[in-house]
Amino acid sequence: MDYSEAKKLVKARLSEKRWTHTKNVKKMAVKLARRWGTDPEKAAMAAILHDSAKELPKQELLQIFADNAIIAENAPARPSPVWHGIAAAILAETQWGITDPEILSAIRCHTTGKPEMSKLDKIIYLADMTSAERDWPGVDDLRALEMQDLDRALCDALKRSIDFVEEKGGSLDPESVAAYEYAKAHLE
Ligand SMILES: [Fe+2]
Ligand SMILES: [Fe+2]
Repeated sequence: MDYSEAKKLVKARLSEKRWTHTKNVKKMAVKLARRWGTDPEKAAMAAILHDSAKELPKQELLQIFADNAIIAENAPARPSPVWHGIAAAILAETQWGITDPEILSAIRCHTTGKPEMSKLDKIIYLADMTSAERDWPGVDDLRALEMQDLDRALCDALKRSIDFVEEKGGSLDPESVAAYEYAKAHLE
């Protein structure tokens, strides 16, 4: 599937609001890819697909995991807010002909991060948090930082997400904590 096919497919799967978010994530991801010297086409593809499973019912996400148990790993045991990234990566790989492991990884870990993130993983994670329509307090600081220091921005972003989940009393995915600990330990 090429980029314009991916765009059509995803647009048809999302509400207007989430499609706008997706287009904004794509713009930010391409900007960050250019800034940090990674392939803007890969960034665009990962960004356009990242939330492609976000509006599927939980039952359907669980069915995708059941049908692809090996690739899904422990997904069903993880908090449900992270399911859509894993499911999107599975659909991209098994149904939509996306074979690039870097694109699949960036889609899969976009909600939590993970230890040892690639540059593309970091870019998609940050683009999702700093896309044009995001307006959480501090987003402008992160927008400035991600253009200056990708790793420090990632570390900040991971910490903010963990704090946000904890404030809301949501269940924290151990992968988020592992991602943050790794990022923090590897600054400088
Ligand atoms: Fe998402
Ligand atoms: Fe998103």
